[in-house]
Amino acid sequence: MAEAPPHRRTSPAAALKLEDFDPAARGVLPQGIYDYIAGGAEDEATLRGNREAFARYRFRFKILASADRPDLNHDVLGQRFTMPVHLAPTAIQRMAHPDGEAAAYQAASDAGIAYCLSTLSSLSIEDVAAAATGARWFQLYMHPERAISTAFVERAVDAGYSAILLTVDLTRTGRRERDIRNGFSLPEGLLYANLESGRRAATADGPDPFARNVNANTNAALGWGDLEWLVAKTSLPVIVKGVVRADDARHAVDAGARGLIVSNHGGRQLDYAIASLDALPEVVQAVSGEVPVLLDGGVRRGTDVLKALCLGASGVLIGRPYLYALAVGGADGVRGMLEMLREEITLSMSLLGARRLTDLNPDLLTRI
Ligand SMILES: Cc1cc2nc3c(=O)[nH]c(=O)nc-3n(C[C@H](O)[C@H](O)[C@H](O)COP(=O)(O)O)c2cc1C
Repeated sequence: MAEAPPHRRTSPAAALKLEDFDPAARGVLPQGIYDYIAGGAEDEATLRGNREAFARYRFRFKILASADRPDLNHDVLGQRFTMPVHLAPTAIQRMAHPDGEAAAYQAASDAGIAYCLSTLSSLSIEDVAAAATGARWFQLYMHPERAISTAFVERAVDAGYSAILLTVDLTRTGRRERDIRNGFSLPEGLLYANLESGRRAATADGPDPFARNVNANTNAALGWGDLEWLVAKTSLPVIVKGVVRADDARHAVDAGARGLIVSNHGGRQLDYAIASLDALPEVVQAVSGEVPVLLDGGVRRGTDVLKALCLGASGVLIGRPYLYALAVGGADGVRGMLEMLREEITLSMSLLGARRLTDLNPDLLTRI
């Protein structure tokens, strides 16, 4: 059994960059929780690969472009945001901080970006919706029982979520060896707030108690018919999360997806999966502007955001950095982290010679 999240917090004031929140969070979280957040599958090759892919690109910047006040506004599916960065869905955020998903959503809302609520959240769809007014998207893990998925989607619609993200890269939980070693399980006192059972029903197979739990609540036989079913079921736009190939991207759009997220689940699922940034160009090309393509995995710098946008992403999502910021400073920690990222994007765009996000294109990059 993992220990409950502590209440001791440090000030994130000393953080200068997103990666500074990682050691700060490590200092306040129990080892098992820190490892659950930080870790990846097996050799963690994809976890590292997501970062390494960003380092292979350099900017061919433009000069004398009068880009002193770049415009960071961007639109996704008719929704307007103040920067092209959103908060990725992650499970059980009360592991990181007692205020959990509500605090992260408040910070996203204040920053003018979207917050994605995980199916496996520790506060309910309705309680999170009541915490702020900004854009909220609901991430769906299709349940083995369709009636349960139907209920999730209907609750999300009723609670004012404006998109459904269908995660397709977790049919079984990846082999996360840190969690196996730690015997990691849902910390005492925390629940899957959206599930009637709230908690266990962990009859499925899995290498550690947490994985067994997730496997009991996700559909291992997920197929294209499930995407078609979901698209037909809901009036909300469906965004498919976990696409890394052109043929799958095309298939998803033909099946009715209104957006795609290039993602390998932050290196937590299939190890040696292609880095998100390396998969991005073929996905962008396959859908040729028909739907927005977002990316997540390893985004840690304003320059990372710009690289992804140069390669055709409409925007990005971040995962671990905001969980670390949440752990050290609650909603204020996440607010501070997002403003840090906004400042980095603004400065780097200005130095790159780009006035607006639509100025970003592959011509501004070279691969080393
Ligand atoms: C602790 C943790 C829990 C996660 N839980 C979910 C989840 O419930 N649903 C989902 O679609 N993705 C989940 N993800 C994946 C993220 O949405 C995202 O793809 C990934 O974190 C992006 O990579 P990054 O952490 O390098 O930014 C989780 C990631 C982490 C780190």
